[in-house]
Amino acid sequence: MTQRVTTRRTVQLHVDQLVPGMELSQDLVSGDGAVLAGAGTIVSSHTINKLRNWQITTVNIVSEASVNPIISREVEQFVNSYNKSVSVVQRAFSTLRDNQEVPLEAFTATADELASGVQAAGNVVDRLYDLPPCDDATFQHSVNVGVIAALIATWMNYPPEVVNAVSLAGLLHDVGKSQLPQAILHRTNLLPPNDYDHYKQHVRYGFELVKSLDLADSVKAGIAQHHERNDRSGYPLSLPGEKIHPYAKIVAVADIYDEALTINREPSTVYSPYSGLEMINDAKHRADPEICLLFSGRMLNFLSGNIVALNDGREARVVYLNSVSPSRSIVQLTSGAVLDLADDPELRIHHVIR
Ligand SMILES: [Fe+2]
Repeated sequence: MTQRVTTRRTVQLHVDQLVPGMELSQDLVSGDGAVLAGAGTIVSSHTINKLRNWQITTVNIVSEASVNPIISREVEQFVNSYNKSVSVVQRAFSTLRDNQEVPLEAFTATADELASGVQAAGNVVDRLYDLPPCDDATFQHSVNVGVIAALIATWMNYPPEVVNAVSLAGLLHDVGKSQLPQAILHRTNLLPPNDYDHYKQHVRYGFELVKSLDLADSVKAGIAQHHERNDRSGYPLSLPGEKIHPYAKIVAVADIYDEALTINREPSTVYSPYSGLEMINDAKHRADPEICLLFSGRMLNFLSGNIVALNDGREARVVYLNSVSPSRSIVQLTSGAVLDLADDPELRIHHVIR
């Protein structure tokens, strides 16, 4: 499993930057030597009010910051499988464009390898975005959704055979895009309405390609329903939540997250995992709220301690996460100054440096 080493660093915060749940790293001592609160105290809103009453302006707290993950053998193996999978999917899409046949064996073997890699290596999502983009983001996106869907299914405690099936649904979810012209494959947010309607047909094309294959109905549902949404705002059938297959709900969350980072990338914008989680937060009432919360909660555990670039170019370390707006977390600049990005509407985390 990937390990994360917590360093228990101390960071000095202004009392206005404290949020309930932070831990004091040193005793708070009054001018006459009385201990007002001991090291290890977990700050509550009551404590914060008391600090203000005591006219204490700065407090040392334990930072959540942790050092970069140790790259385990399992993660290395996963990265090898990932690179191989992108090539397999690229070849499979080419076969599909030529003869309309889904090379199911290649997809199934790839999904099984990715799913077992995820189960062995743990959270590998960061690794997906370390790699250089391919010529056609569709291949990388398909593999990423297969990986993230497998990870979510693992976190939902599904047995390994279900994790494999969910991963296969993720890997195949956009297989219908092989039938779309290149010109409308990407930048869906910028397509004119007619082209966008054509783009949405990829779901029907995908189902047509897989419907007669020897494939579990649940996997077919994962493909056919991955753009359906609980509030009936999805397509192609505007199904209500209770009619959407659980595999499709998992694939939808993986798709929303990865689409923000891989597909709908404006040339001038770099999306980070912090903004990806904001997309999940925004979508949580349309997609499945429980899956969105599970995914965000697990992912947030890995986003503290990163060295990031802010949108004004400054480098900083993330010391406390803002779980509602992760790209507006509390960061410490290289100068040592601590900034709560939530205080400045112009500032946000732009991208992860390491
Ligand atoms: Fe899609």
